[in-house]
Amino acid sequence: MSEKTKELFDSINAKAVLLKAPDPNFYYFSGLSVGHFFGTALILRQGKKPVLLTTRFYSVPKALRKNLVVKTVENSKKVRKILGQHLKGRRIGLNYNFATKKGYADLRKMLKGKAFFDVSKNLAEVRAVKTSGEISKIRTAVGITEKVLQRVPKIYRRGMTERALALAIELEFRQKADDSIGFPVIVASGANGSVPHHMPSEKRIGKGFLLVDAGCRYRNYCADLSRTFFVGSATERQRELYQAVFASQRFSLSLIKPGEKCSGIFAKAGKFLKSETGFSLIHGLGHGLGIEVHDSPRGFLEGSNERLKPGMVLTVEPAIYGRFGGIRIEDDILVTKTGCRLLSSAPKKLVEF
Ligand code: GLY
Ligand code: MN
Repeated sequence: MSEKTKELFDSINAKAVLLKAPDPNFYYFSGLSVGHFFGTALILRQGKKPVLLTTRFYSVPKALRKNLVVKTVENSKKVRKILGQHLKGRRIGLNYNFATKKGYADLRKMLKGKAFFDVSKNLAEVRAVKTSGEISKIRTAVGITEKVLQRVPKIYRRGMTERALALAIELEFRQKADDSIGFPVIVASGANGSVPHHMPSEKRIGKGFLLVDAGCRYRNYCADLSRTFFVGSATERQRELYQAVFASQRFSLSLIKPGEKCSGIFAKAGKFLKSETGFSLIHGLGHGLGIEVHDSPRGFLEGSNERLKPGMVLTVEPAIYGRFGGIRIEDDILVTKTGCRLLSSAPKKLVEF
């Protein structure tokens, strides 16, 4: 049983938890590749290997077979039998964030006498602190992403559309990282950058700020970096604005240490950004990063009671938006025993090309 499975069972009063793909927790505990094995299920068991209920349409990679008890099921009768055999105890944990009304009703019918309960909070807590193995995968994802983003001025061709640049970046991720992309690449030129999650359009990239937000996925783990470039030559004021956002990021990083409340960091960072740039922070300062791009912990948000712990991995992404577009500098950090460590390194100057 993995250390994380043990941690989960230490926090609940049950012998079994049932997870179903595409719940990210299914991939987290099985190691199977995100986006595959749709509709198959995983039984987490106290003190034992998880049982994977799969179909013959999927093949389980050899390297993972030793960690799983693989059961290939052909029909619902067999599913009922395997569930009955391996879901020990009366209380069965489910992730209510992924349980549908229909799925829940089916389970109740299939497994009479069981009492289901929600383990979503326990799962989030277990996943908030990363193991050294997870950190190393995130580090690799961040390294690949950073290198590709540094190449944006080289990948860019005059007259290129936002979509073409986004696709070129995604292609590099797919070539360099085994599991491709963490989320669709955001490329926003000029005024389009004022929408934080702008969808790349057929607009040709023109003079002005160019915001690229991207992250590859490596062995299931995501990176999430935003870089703001300038196409053409920026004015002094535009460079100053970039530097002010960068200073806000450095200030934010200086606040991060174990025990700190996420909402407190959000408030202080927002105040600093406002005083440096005149703009308010219109979204969270950052979020947890892991097998999901927005992972546990939820992160630096208003009203969040979460407190930082060593081993958490989060993004730090101060940003300003206006008619000029957007400036966002997003890096990924690891909370250490005394503060935090950057897993990536933002360019200190605005890159103009
Ligand atoms: N990079 C996408 C996001 O943070 O939501
Ligand atoms: Mn982000």
